[in-house]
Amino acid sequence: MTKTRRRIQSQLRLIDAVAILLDARVPYSSCNPDLRSIINNKPRLVILNKCDMADPAQTKKWLALFRGKNIAAIALDCKTGKGLNAFIPTVKNVLSDRIEAWNNKGMTGRTIKVMVVGIPNVGKSSFINRMSKQTRAKVEDRPGVTRGNQWYTIGKGFDLLDTPGVLWPKFNDPSVGEKLAFIGSVKDDILDTEQLAGRLLEYLRNNYPDPLCARYKLSFDEIETAQGYEILELVGRKRGMLISGGEINTERAASAVLDEFRGAVLGKLTIDRAEDHPDVRI
Ligand code: G4P
Repeated sequence: MTKTRRRIQSQLRLIDAVAILLDARVPYSSCNPDLRSIINNKPRLVILNKCDMADPAQTKKWLALFRGKNIAAIALDCKTGKGLNAFIPTVKNVLSDRIEAWNNKGMTGRTIKVMVVGIPNVGKSSFINRMSKQTRAKVEDRPGVTRGNQWYTIGKGFDLLDTPGVLWPKFNDPSVGEKLAFIGSVKDDILDTEQLAGRLLEYLRNNYPDPLCARYKLSFDEIETAQGYEILELVGRKRGMLISGGEINTERAASAVLDEFRGAVLGKLTIDRAEDHPDVRI
């Protein structure tokens, strides 16, 4: 992290603004807590990526929350490209004073340079690929792939710099780690998937009971006061996931729940609710 901090800071004098990519399903948990001090007072904008998988009502609230703090924010879906057209105008808006000053000095058309930062798996490569309309080496699903300093021209007078280094999330906060695990940004093999699926089921029961009940054919009455593990057992039973002796295969049920949540099969759902983070700073 210290190395990444140094690498980012050494590039700050070369760039005009920072685009902070967050996962729209976990805008709070997917933000590196040290980012604010790393980028200091550089002009910035927030990009809520993967909004195709997030609850649209929550995305709207998050955008309003950031904008209410005078931080430009847009929602994107890099799978289809929805929202990408707003990126360049938003950056120009954030930099409007500077652009005016450049124009007054006769530096019209000066190249605008933006650093793209975000924790692993948030969609930085997909975003840069989309914006630069060129296919780089396959976008990988390996959190923490090492990156060098890479510049991309995304149009006349507009360059993007990929995060120099790996910007880790706040792993020391257990609730952040858990939320990142829900969306699959933390490797499953280091986690107890049944416990994780149970926690996710409890969150869904408390916040999105209708899609949860519809997907697993549960009635709200039977899950209203249940513990996560009990809901997991119900899911396994309804799905006929049994092992010899009629016992429920909760391991299989856990994988199904996590896979279906991550694939947005349960619907567009958000884990970090804007109303729980009124003091978010970036
Ligand atoms: P990173 O550079 O920040 O580490 O992230 P990267 O672009 O590698 O994206 C991580 C995964 O997230 C990829 O999935 C990518 O396709 C997916 N992704 C990126 N942006 C979006 C988005 O707006 N919506 C959705 N639904 N997914 C997005 P993958 O499974 O690794 O690759 P693949 O499915 O493209 O093969």
